[in-house]
Formats: sequence, C-alpha cells, structure tokens
Amino acid sequence: MVTLTIEGREVIVAPGTSLLEAAKTVGVLVPHYCYHPSLPVAGVCRMCLVEVEKFPKLAPACATTVGEGQVVHVHSEKAREARKGVLEFLLINHPLDCPICDQAGECELQDYTFAEGRKDSRYMEPKRFNPMEDFGGDVVYVPNRCILCTRCVRFMDVVAQDPVLCVAERGDRAYIGKFEGQDLTSPWASNVVDLCPVGALLSKDFLNKARAWELDRAASICTGCSQGCNVMVETRDGVVVRIRPRPNAAVNQHFACEVGRMHYRWMNRRDRLEVPMVSDGQGLALATWDAALTAAASEIASAGRVTVLASPALPNEALFLLQRIGAHVGASLVMTVPRGPEAPLPGVTDLALRAERAPNHTGAELLGFTDVSSPMAGLGANDLVIVADAAVASVPAGVRVIVVGTVLDATLAGATIVALPVCNVAEEDGTFTNLRGRVQRFLQAKAPPVQARPTYRVLGALAEALGAGAYPPLAADVFASLAAAVPAFAGLSYRGLGLQGADVTLPAEATT
Ligand code: SF4
Ligand code: SF4
Ligand code: FES
Repeated sequence: MVTLTIEGREVIVAPGTSLLEAAKTVGVLVPHYCYHPSLPVAGVCRMCLVEVEKFPKLAPACATTVGEGQVVHVHSEKAREARKGVLEFLLINHPLDCPICDQAGECELQDYTFAEGRKDSRYMEPKRFNPMEDFGGDVVYVPNRCILCTRCVRFMDVVAQDPVLCVAERGDRAYIGKFEGQDLTSPWASNVVDLCPVGALLSKDFLNKARAWELDRAASICTGCSQGCNVMVETRDGVVVRIRPRPNAAVNQHFACEVGRMHYRWMNRRDRLEVPMVSDGQGLALATWDAALTAAASEIASAGRVTVLASPALPNEALFLLQRIGAHVGASLVMTVPRGPEAPLPGVTDLALRAERAPNHTGAELLGFTDVSSPMAGLGANDLVIVADAAVASVPAGVRVIVVGTVLDATLAGATIVALPVCNVAEEDGTFTNLRGRVQRFLQAKAPPVQARPTYRVLGALAEALGAGAYPPLAADVFASLAAAVPAFAGLSYRGLGLQGADVTLPAEATT
C-alpha cells in the first residue's frame, strides 16, 4: 500500500491508484471532465490539474499515480488558477445555453464554473457555431456545447466496441463526428448521453420534458430483462419521465441498455385496474376491498383445481405469497417468460441485455414456478386460475379467473370473477433476483392510482383470508418471512441487501 497526503489528509491506497481516485477515498473531489471510472484514461481536458510538492509542473490527477510520501494540494492557489484558465478556454466557444439546455442542473461545466471559474468573460468575438446533428438511435449531438473530452468516443471504441464516433477536424474547429454511413445504433449507445459531462449529447426521448431540479428520484432495478441493472427511476408530478443507470460494480457498472431505458413507458399506463371488482353474474361490479378479498378467498377455497399463473416480472415478495397460497390449496405454479435477442456489452464482463425479458425469472424458479409456453392448456370447466399480472392469449371455456393485476386485459375480462388492483414496480417496494442470483431492492417512486394497493399487501391479506399464514403489511416483513422459509434466501434482509444487493446460492443447474 502507498501512503500520501492529499489536502492535509492521510490517504492509504493500493499502488497504481490515480491521485483523483485516491482523493475520492477521503472525500476530496478533484474537478474533471474527460476522466470516468469505467473508461480508459485520456488526460485530454486538463481540468484535474493539482499541485504535487516537488513536482516541477502541475499534474493531471487522473493520469498521475500515487507515490509514497507525496503531498498533494487540490485547492492551492496555483492549482485553482490553472483550472480557472482551463475553464476560460472551454467557455470561449461554449454558448451560455443553460436556460434551454437539457443538462442544466446536472451539468459539470455549470458546476465547476460556479465553483472555480472566472466571474466575467474576456471574449468578445463571435462563438463557433455548428448545427445540431441526429446521431441516430435516441441521441442528438449539439456540437456548440461539446468540450471534446472524448468520453463518448472512448465508450463506443472500448466498451461498446462499435467504433462509430471520432474527433473530426482540429483545434477550435474540432467536433465529434460519425464515420461515414455509421449511426449510434448499438443497443447500448445511449450511455454516451449519461457519460457526456455537458449538454452536448442528449436523449431525444427526454428532450424538453423536465428540468433536472423538478425531478424526484428513487433507486430501482430495471425490469427490461433478467440482468437486473441498477437504475434510478425519475418522476415529475407522479409521471415517470426517465430511467438512468445507477452504478453497481457487480451488475452493470455505470451502464443501461436502450430496452431498459425505454421500459418506463408502461409504468405510466392510463388504462389501469383502479378499484376492486367482483362478478355479479352480469359482469364485473365495483366492490370494497374487504368484499373482494372475501369473495376471492371463498372462490379459491371452493375450487376443484387451482393454477397460479404469475408474471416473472413480479417481485420475490409477491411470488412468495402466491407460492404460500398455492401450497395451501394444492395449486400448480406456472409462468411464461417472454424472450428476445441477447445483446452483450462487449467491454464489460457478464453484462448483456438478456434473452429472458423479465427481471425475476430466477426468483420465480427458486420459489417453485415452472416456465411453460401454454399455461392455460388442459384447463376447462370448474378450473380456477389466479392470474397475477401475467399476459394471457385466451381463456378456455368454463375456466374462472381471479386477476391480481395492474390492468385487466380484454382477453381476461369475460372469465374474471374477482379483480384485485395492485401497484406496478414504480409504485411499491420489493426485490428481484437476477439471473446470477443477486437479490436487489427497488423502492417506490410514485403513488399508485385510486385504490390500487401493493401486491404483497393484497396477496398477504388473501393468504390470511385463506388461512395460509399471517403476513405483516410491510414489504420488509414479507421478505423476512420469505428469508425464514426459503433456504436459498436464508440470512438475507432488507437492511443487509442495502441498495447494492446480495447473492443467493443458486442450484448448480441454474448457473450453467
Ligand atoms: S459530445 Fe460530450 S462526451 Fe463527447 S466529446 Fe463532446 S463533451 Fe465529451
Ligand atoms: S440489460 Fe436488461 S436489466 Fe440492464 S438495462 Fe438492459 S433491459 Fe434493463
Ligand atoms: S480529467 Fe484529467 S485531464 Fe481530464
């Protein structure tokens, strides 16, 4: 280990650590643009210049490794003066677009200029102007704002391994270009929008939807596939407007794919199941929660054969309670896993848009659900199916359905005898188990519509009404019951999972 002093604080880090990363360990932020922990070091922006005692010149903190006994000054007058000069150069051509720029409020140029820049401009000449350009996919390029840090170029070259971007021209005419005939169509290309430290690369989908300071944010898990990328769900006035990656070195580093980013749209569906309903013989009629739960419990208890058809996008908590209900009445537990093409991110080990397009396929398997292609096959008169937020193509004649769902599909409406409205993933707390067996928490991001209740609470009440156990009405408590009952989850708790998750031990055949 190497011991040095940064801003008067003793730092002990591994040999080879950069001064910038070493400073982070003691809470000292060295301003930077081109450096990003998931990209190779380029050292092109010079914003991270710091003073190292006995060095003849200022050193770029991102490209200088620690040395035994070094004494580093990040905020000395000499270092701040140099960075002030760097900022002045960057602002020569950067327009003061902040009032209309999508990045305002989360722009590192704004932040560092406020913290360290000049208060006035000495530049009188007209600024450089280049028109905006559609980069393909979801990305638009505003060259006037580009500070040529090359993060986007390095991401596409080294991480996506799809080198479509380059630095074209030189000096003050330089801009980011696309190679002839190429577009940003990689399934992971939108990460350049998050990586861009200024408002030069923007998401077309998010453009002009909200200012950064209007957003509420909740830590969540992407529901697009079984990878389980950690994300932030961002809402404005109760509407999800953006999903962005949240760093987790064990799952997705700093990245998220296009499918995951666009997966928020269904969270804002307007055609929700909003109130409990019970069939009165003519059709579904509004009911109180108590009446609907009582009716559902009595129908399940009196049915001949019961099937539980669950969505593999349901949280562990809901699937556990469905398993309890199923075990109590001797039901079979099934699911159907939607699939699509797999798309790895080549520069990151074990990160891919997975073929299984559901976040909790593994959790469902651990809890006893079997993947079947035709869940309704072989069912008929006097059979009852509990459809828990799963899509169903058609229902055989005579089969009665209890819906525990966010929507009531037209294919189910005729066969449904009780419908219980529940929250979607943005509206409740819970956990998913990803394909490697990592159990990860997601937090509520917005309010549910009308009378919809958390899935674990509805299913807990239903299980209690059936005499299948007692479940306290909090997600953490249901998870504690799960961890006590299912050996794979033994020892886990919400507190222990934190916001980065923990691993369950998968059976050998599940990991191959
Ligand atoms: S577009 Fe953004 S990420 Fe790319 S070089 Fe310019 S400032 Fe850097
Ligand atoms: S890889 Fe899967 S989990 Fe990750 S962002 Fe894409 S869809 Fe979501
Ligand atoms: S962050 Fe060090 S030179 Fe750009």
